[in-house]
Amino acid sequence: MAESYELRGKYSRLDAPEPDSPVRRSLDNAYRSSSELEDLDEFDPLNYDAGTLKRKKTKSRRPRGESLRGKDTFQFEKPNQKSRCRCCVPTRMCCGLVLLFVAAVVLLLSAGGIWAWKTAPADGQSPPWYPTPKGGTDAKWEESYKKAAELVRQMTLVEKVNITTGTGWSMQMCVGNTGPVARLGFPSLCLQDGPLGIRFADNITAFPAGVTVGATWNKDLMYEKGRAHALEAKLKGINVLLGPAMGPLGRMPAGGRNWEGFGSDPVLQGIAAAQMIKGIQVEGVMATAKHFVGNEQEHFRQSWEWGTPNAISSNIDDRTLHELYAWPFAESIRAGVASIMCSYNQVNNSYACGNSKLMNGILKDELGFQGFVQSDWLAQRSGVASALAGLDMSMPGDGLRWADGKPLWGSELTKAVLNSSVPMDRLDDMVTRIVAAWYQVGQDDKDKWPMPPPEGDGGPNFSSWTNDRVGFLHHGSDDKTTGVVNKFVNVQGEGDDFHGHLARRIAAEGTVLVKNEDNILPLNRNGWKKDEKAGKEMKYRVGVFGEDARANQNGPNSCVDRACNTGTLAQAWGSGSVDFPYLITPIEAIRKSFNEESVYVTDWPANKLPTEQEGILHDQDLCIVFANADAGEGYLQADGIRGDRNNLYTQHRGDYLIKKVAEGCGNNGSAPTIVVIHAVGPVMLENFISIPGVKAVLLAHLPGQESGNALTDVLFGDVNPSGRLPYTIAKNEDDYGPTSKILYLPNNIVPQQNFTEGLYIDYRHFDKYNITPRFEFGYGLSYTTFHLSSLLVNPKSFTKTLLPAPRPAGINPPSYPTDIPDPSTALAPPGLRKLGKYIYPYIFSTSDVKKGKYPYPPAYHIPSTPSPAGGAQGGNPDLYTTVAVITATLTNTGPVTGDSVVQLYITYPPDYVDEETGEPVDFPVRVLRGFQKVRVEGGDAKQKRAEVKFELTRKDLSYWDVRRGNWVMPTKGEFGIEVGFSSRDLPLKGKF
Ligand code: BGC
Repeated sequence: MAESYELRGKYSRLDAPEPDSPVRRSLDNAYRSSSELEDLDEFDPLNYDAGTLKRKKTKSRRPRGESLRGKDTFQFEKPNQKSRCRCCVPTRMCCGLVLLFVAAVVLLLSAGGIWAWKTAPADGQSPPWYPTPKGGTDAKWEESYKKAAELVRQMTLVEKVNITTGTGWSMQMCVGNTGPVARLGFPSLCLQDGPLGIRFADNITAFPAGVTVGATWNKDLMYEKGRAHALEAKLKGINVLLGPAMGPLGRMPAGGRNWEGFGSDPVLQGIAAAQMIKGIQVEGVMATAKHFVGNEQEHFRQSWEWGTPNAISSNIDDRTLHELYAWPFAESIRAGVASIMCSYNQVNNSYACGNSKLMNGILKDELGFQGFVQSDWLAQRSGVASALAGLDMSMPGDGLRWADGKPLWGSELTKAVLNSSVPMDRLDDMVTRIVAAWYQVGQDDKDKWPMPPPEGDGGPNFSSWTNDRVGFLHHGSDDKTTGVVNKFVNVQGEGDDFHGHLARRIAAEGTVLVKNEDNILPLNRNGWKKDEKAGKEMKYRVGVFGEDARANQNGPNSCVDRACNTGTLAQAWGSGSVDFPYLITPIEAIRKSFNEESVYVTDWPANKLPTEQEGILHDQDLCIVFANADAGEGYLQADGIRGDRNNLYTQHRGDYLIKKVAEGCGNNGSAPTIVVIHAVGPVMLENFISIPGVKAVLLAHLPGQESGNALTDVLFGDVNPSGRLPYTIAKNEDDYGPTSKILYLPNNIVPQQNFTEGLYIDYRHFDKYNITPRFEFGYGLSYTTFHLSSLLVNPKSFTKTLLPAPRPAGINPPSYPTDIPDPSTALAPPGLRKLGKYIYPYIFSTSDVKKGKYPYPPAYHIPSTPSPAGGAQGGNPDLYTTVAVITATLTNTGPVTGDSVVQLYITYPPDYVDEETGEPVDFPVRVLRGFQKVRVEGGDAKQKRAEVKFELTRKDLSYWDVRRGNWVMPTKGEFGIEVGFSSRDLPLKGKF
């Protein structure tokens, strides 16, 4: 083995890292949205001091990945600083005060210590599951495992370790990079966010966000989005896409990252994720199902990020875990996903990335996961323990702190294998899983995936750390070698294949029309509609209001990772955001869409409507008003929102603006108002939804680069709206239930969040407690009308059994010699040019290997019993046996062609008791089990109906029984079948 860079990649230089940056990509606390300061009539005493304190604002464009300091900074000029003395009272009094202060601090600390000691959660709330099941037991992966084993057998210890560990934050081009084994033709893998588009890259597509994709309820679009995203990734040299996201699931409507996933229901999330994964992997890119599991809020998600030494613990019971939070991951595994990312938080007081029950037990045993588990960035909190618990890849390679070059694996893993703390077969399994996943998607095909230089011209052709063509090859290190790092490859597709078309379609279909009184929509491009025109000679006057209609004057990418809510909201913020190649704003699309010969468009693109300007409201025949609600990932904050939303209302006083516009439009509200909201999730509409002037409300979610075009497609009826709510909109925030609230303040030294509502989140909660929402889950209007009829429930002939068939035996995983190599074989090669903070697999002296007794958990030596619910990818294959086929007829009864989302919900047998123990089993009122989006012609068309078909599996009809540790399908009583247009509009009902 030669020099470091032969093993780690062919780039051998780096630039000066930012010393000790505790939170990478951190935001200056002073950072505020310009809109908040410019457009709102809010008085902020921090920024203004009547006449004496002036607010100064400096703007600078920040190259990717660099410090934000100085971005928006506010300085205050103080006119007369009278004295430098901070304590201008007599010295004795001052000393007294100091003593008092010290005493108070000591008291507080002791009280805090006692509190911490008293409230610290007990260990061991997550059951142990050992040893890690080996990959290679599923016939669908047989070939890939064979090839992988052949390669892995030739690898040395350090080569194996190199593949399992990232080379460190910003050491190579991508947000995550593994070390290569160039000797055997195995490349460094580039891992890049996802899930919306390609983060930190140029010439890519800013697709609509996950919540928008979810709102389409269109399986084809979910798949196509995956394909297009993967095509872009492949052309940029990305091996692993860090998406789709299905955790958070949306337990808390204000959760900062709900928008990255597809909606607050496991089946919707599961279908969308599986479709996207299939689309991504068909193009040869590895998908990542993230974040496993229970990362439902941003506050306290990570150690120290929020001041607490430990991350929050999501305390989830076994049934809820299976039926809600793990469900979409099961579907992802069933779709063959290559990778799963474990999350930052703890689950039942054990870190998700060190939790043997979750990784060994659920993912690898029960769900038969054949790919590799990678840690979220710094979510790994232990070295040996996480290896034993089933982690396969450490990302980004740095250990407990950002970018400090001190890994938990890398050289540490080498030592742990050499001193026998981590068994050799565990390391072999980690590596084989990664290499097999690479083969499984076909990345060994050198025509499609050329090796990086010097062997080929493959590998990433963009840099996450600079926009310049030439830049540091190892940005985070101390090496100053530069090279061409950005080749600016345009991956957006061309002509009909231009991905912007797909982005536009998804954004239009992900727009949900929830109110359309007097058929105000669709609009007429020429202004007055036919029946309104009589006697009107003047131009039709349209007023467009709200900051959310316009561009951010500093450009759509002016805020780091999109962490500001300025101008129209088309993405939320965090690692799941991308640089917009362009952003079509609503106002420009609206202007372009109206015929200027007959329509006069005025805009007031701010949220503050000064009194003297209110007159413009009165001069309109139609008003379109925009508002929004933003959120994002917890390492950034904007407008006082640190990841999770502070409430469920529109931001920047959007409600107030809407109200003012709706009450003033035309002659004091006599002209109609259309409300458009861009938001990360549910928004309370109560402040304006019932105002008579509000004739239409469109929830356009996060539409991506084609925002304005997609919106006008719907406004003018080129696209008949077919989006449906992927969550419930309540009338009141409290209606979501007491446990739906973000924990904003720590309640324990290890913040504890008990998922005591169990299965009852979102619509399941509303149904259980009979709460009327404003708009229910699955709701959405169309410009046509639909009718459902002819429900047919056709149970397949099979003998009903409570439990699925016995778990089938899998095939044999590869095996390797288990001898521990001589430590000298792991020594760094002589003359290695060691790059600062770069993570290597080598040891530097054989005396680094210290033998000692590793404190294995007591259960480590007692092999766990394989789950009867396992046996294949996604679980026991019998769980996916079709047990009933349901059909219905959908008729378009309206004037135009349209798509309907036909939804199937089931109800479990009423008053059901466990058939063995007689114990009552509680079930939600109904649960979604399938949906189909169907297009049917309307108007005078001949064929105005279509058949809709659903297949129900054993798993669909089962519940997770904790005592048996298996899925149980009731054999007594009747299941109810409900088919309809939303979770509360279910005209077809049947039983079997
Ligand atoms: C996020 C992940 C992301 C990773 C890499 C983390 O902070 O939680 O979703 O993939 O960073 O950017």
